[in-house]
Amino acid sequence: MVDVSTVGARGSAAHGGPIQVFFTKGMAPRPVIERASGIYMWDREGRRYIDASSGPVASNLGHGNARVLEAMRRQAERVAFAFPGVFESEANRALADLVTGLAGPGLDRAFFVSGGSEATEACVKFARQYAVVRGEASRWKVISLNPSYHGATLGALALSGDCQAAEIFGPLMTPMPKVPAPLTYRVPEGQDAVAYAKVCADALDEEIRRQGPETVLAFIMEPVGGLARGAAAAPDPYYGAVREICRRHGVLLIYDEVMSGAGRTGKFLAADHWPEGRPDLVLLAKGIAAGYTPMGAVLAPDSMVETLAAAGGFNHGHTYFANPLSCAIGHAVVTEMLERDLISNAARMGARLRARLEAIQARSAIIGDVRGKGLLMAFEIVADKATKAMLPLPLMAPYRLAEVAMERGLLIYARRTSKGAFGDWLMIAPPLITTEAEIDEIADLLSKSVNAYEAELSEAGALTA
Ligand SMILES: Cc1ncc(COP(=O)(O)O)c(C=O)c1O
Repeated sequence: MVDVSTVGARGSAAHGGPIQVFFTKGMAPRPVIERASGIYMWDREGRRYIDASSGPVASNLGHGNARVLEAMRRQAERVAFAFPGVFESEANRALADLVTGLAGPGLDRAFFVSGGSEATEACVKFARQYAVVRGEASRWKVISLNPSYHGATLGALALSGDCQAAEIFGPLMTPMPKVPAPLTYRVPEGQDAVAYAKVCADALDEEIRRQGPETVLAFIMEPVGGLARGAAAAPDPYYGAVREICRRHGVLLIYDEVMSGAGRTGKFLAADHWPEGRPDLVLLAKGIAAGYTPMGAVLAPDSMVETLAAAGGFNHGHTYFANPLSCAIGHAVVTEMLERDLISNAARMGARLRARLEAIQARSAIIGDVRGKGLLMAFEIVADKATKAMLPLPLMAPYRLAEVAMERGLLIYARRTSKGAFGDWLMIAPPLITTEAEIDEIADLLSKSVNAYEAELSEAGALTA
């Protein structure tokens, strides 16, 4: 018999470190999490943090939700795992009904997986199989935006617009065409955001023609940007324009709503803000199970699912797809969100957060832009608000500001994307349960953190204004 007291000894002190030493460069040791409740988290030393980004924009219900914990226990006692290749489960059917009912007509079926990257993979494979079954086997290219992020698996990474990922992992991936993202803050000289969005939509049309429309399977985009685009939504006309372009060329329009879906932007889907841009397929993850279990989903129309079913079914699956425990948890999460009207709360608290962020921006030397929808918000930091000049890249400003905030008990989400080629920003996206008083607490702590970081930058002579 193995002596368990000796197992893992190598993982302590000498061999341990941040995330078991997989990530060490420049990384201070992380506090050890002890417990969490609502929008607050406590480390082992008793320090309290406000989870103002829902982790990586996942914990939509906050922590320790009683309904979810109870659903988890009940389903686990009944049956935690039953492979969908053998058994249907009530939990799967109930969650599919609930989610597709909220997603609305044309998104009638749901396929549940274990996260956002898996949802991207499943969605693209579903689209490809659909094309093959319909006699359009020449269609395989998936066009996406630059910058963008659709997941970390090699297929999803090939769709993501991030030069750093392409540099390292490029040789392992099939290159996929990219078109410029409709950024709103840094737009080319002489254009405004609306004019630039038109240029970006035209670029999609041109790229489809250049590739040969008969080779293009789909266009995938985040309707409201995640980390890669710092919560930027495109100007309204963009959505109808790309919808029309895709329709004209027989290209499927996929919305990656891994971050923006499940109520975060003040509608169940961010797509609901632009009915004229209705997508063919939608990806969900993160908020759909709010961090209580790994989960993602592909939403698809009846017609596409029936076409594949008639041809023998969707040729794809993972061990944990549609597993009963995760589905029951997802069902409790979505039910809680509906019963507490948290989608409306996201819209209301989002407006309050935006107003508070804009007030901080007005006083701050480094906040150049505030953007987002509902409780999916970000702010961009600069060295000079007039010229939009970036802070020197080696300062790793987003990480340092997140650190300064964390020292004050505020958790915000920072990661430089595309080597900072499009700017530096931080996400601020608290759980959908956040109250007015908590928004104010977040804003007060952020204001203090920004002041402290500005003082640090000023002392270092890094501010040009
Ligand atoms: C828009 C978007 N798509 C896909 C993913 C990948 O999801 P996951 O990390 O669950 O694999 C993410 C994760 O941040 C995301 O923000």
